[in-house]
Amino acid sequence: MCGIVGAIAQRNIVPVLLQGLQRLEYRGYDSAGLAVVHNRQLQRVRSTGRVAELTKSSANTSGHLGIAHTRWATHGVPSERNAHPHLSNELIAVVHNGIIENYEEIRARLTAQNYIFTSDTDSEVIAHLIHSHYVRNHNLLLATQAALAELVGAYAIGVVAADNDTHMICARKGSPLLLGVGKGEHFIASDVSALLSVTKNVVYLEEGDVAEISLHGYRIFNAQGVAVERPVHISEMSSESVELGEYRHYMQKEIHEQPQALADTLEGVCNSQTLVPGIFGAEAAATFAQIDSLLILACGTSHHAGMVARYWLEEIAGIPCTVEIASEYRYRVSVANPKTLVVTISQSGETADTLAALNHAKSLGHNHTLSICNVPESALVRLSKLRLLTRAGPEIGVASTKAFTTQLAALFLLTLVLAKLRGRLGKEEEQRHLHALRHLPSAAQAVLKLEPEIAHLAEHFADKQHALFLGRGLHYPIALEGALKLKEISYIHAEAYPAGELKHGPLALVDKDMPVIAVAPNDALLEKLKSNLQEVRARGGELYVFADAGTRLQSSAGVHLMQMPEHAGYLSPILHTIALQLLAYYVALKKGTDVDKPRNLAKSVTVE
Ligand code: F6R
Repeated sequence: MCGIVGAIAQRNIVPVLLQGLQRLEYRGYDSAGLAVVHNRQLQRVRSTGRVAELTKSSANTSGHLGIAHTRWATHGVPSERNAHPHLSNELIAVVHNGIIENYEEIRARLTAQNYIFTSDTDSEVIAHLIHSHYVRNHNLLLATQAALAELVGAYAIGVVAADNDTHMICARKGSPLLLGVGKGEHFIASDVSALLSVTKNVVYLEEGDVAEISLHGYRIFNAQGVAVERPVHISEMSSESVELGEYRHYMQKEIHEQPQALADTLEGVCNSQTLVPGIFGAEAAATFAQIDSLLILACGTSHHAGMVARYWLEEIAGIPCTVEIASEYRYRVSVANPKTLVVTISQSGETADTLAALNHAKSLGHNHTLSICNVPESALVRLSKLRLLTRAGPEIGVASTKAFTTQLAALFLLTLVLAKLRGRLGKEEEQRHLHALRHLPSAAQAVLKLEPEIAHLAEHFADKQHALFLGRGLHYPIALEGALKLKEISYIHAEAYPAGELKHGPLALVDKDMPVIAVAPNDALLEKLKSNLQEVRARGGELYVFADAGTRLQSSAGVHLMQMPEHAGYLSPILHTIALQLLAYYVALKKGTDVDKPRNLAKSVTVE
């Protein structure tokens, strides 16, 4: 999704802006641009395509104050004229992330006042609106505040004025934005990774905040216009953690980081002898004692994690659990149960639909809220009473990999803690689960050793248009996740079904051109799955079966068997996922797609 970087310094800030944009490339974008204030003029450079293009076009641009942007098209096609920054009368420049819902009305009004629009975006209204106030009051802060008061929608913005080379204004509501605090220089960015080469000291803006930034300081005002203090955090993220290193793609790197990410997420728990609710926050024990059910809300891959968790929670902890797609829940008329624990799951913690779903749940009277999230200072974490942070580290590839497996690890911990509190987990069983969790990173490492074999298997998919994924029980959501990974990075149309549903419709699709990928662990449903697989073979479908060590399944003509290193019991979905991630990755490599930045997609979906 769109990315923002801004800087004010005594040095030329163009390289800082460009490097920041490069670091934000992972969020997904289709055009980029920057504007700097130089000799009381705005110099703007924009380009479609990659930041590398913008870097070439900016060779002769320099300045001490500027804003920059990567755009992911929502209103208006990806093109140079729609790229940000947007200018108003060569006086005001604005970068915007989010969606302005009432832009048509404002645009009509401003057009009547002779403002000339040069783009199809909703964002351009912000520049003209600020301009309309600025020409009256000549105060960039007040002009921005006045303009924001007229906007309906979500925004993170950066603003500069040609005749003001001492201040930059920024604001956030519904889209993330932070300040970077340097020595005699200050920055703004959508996320901290953009600023790692200039500062690790960051201030997260709260909803509705507006900030005025200068060389030597900054002032923050809340939504009511009252000056407020926000704490300075020292980011733990290192520059190296967002570098590619020896890997060909971030996705490959992140798949390989999973053993470490799992170990880090489970660190505190695995070093102790017993599970305690406190890992979810100080109020967790009291909250968990009051709940009688769970409602899990999330999007995409994070929603799949919730679906796996439902099997665990109902079977191990014996607690009713519903899992819902956040974007559906937020608009559905639902019946709230105040004893429900609302669990939101998100890598970024900034997904607009998940945030809105949580706010909706709260508005219905849900007070017990827990988030499972990879970004400590994200809006989602701040909005939730309880939290468990996954410690996957920065995930740059658009396709979620290590975030997903660490979410599963966190959800398994939640299951065990609730099972224990509900008297459903004996001492011995607790130790057995803890042992399995301690072993998980090395089991994940063993799956990675299958990489060459899976790469070989992937060759069969390079010329395919469609694929069908099957799974049962706990592994049905893993089939969904495998299909999502394949479609998003290789552009092969892939669907997933619970294997028992095959004969109720999708079997009609099966022929020799439809590869069928089956997730087939050694569990109680294996025999049932075997019959489903025979139904596929009988129709000439080619089978790719991901089974466990010691499986009773065998390779044969049209049946390609891939054996996982072990059967991991309840944790098996985590291992099987890693194999399917590798499959999707190598199919995409064969197809030559842009693995880390698949077309049309964004990493952090901060718009509805
Ligand atoms: C798929 C993927 C997306 C995200 C979804 C939610 O690989 O990454 O489906 O899972 O956009 O994002 P978060 O987890 O940041 O809320």
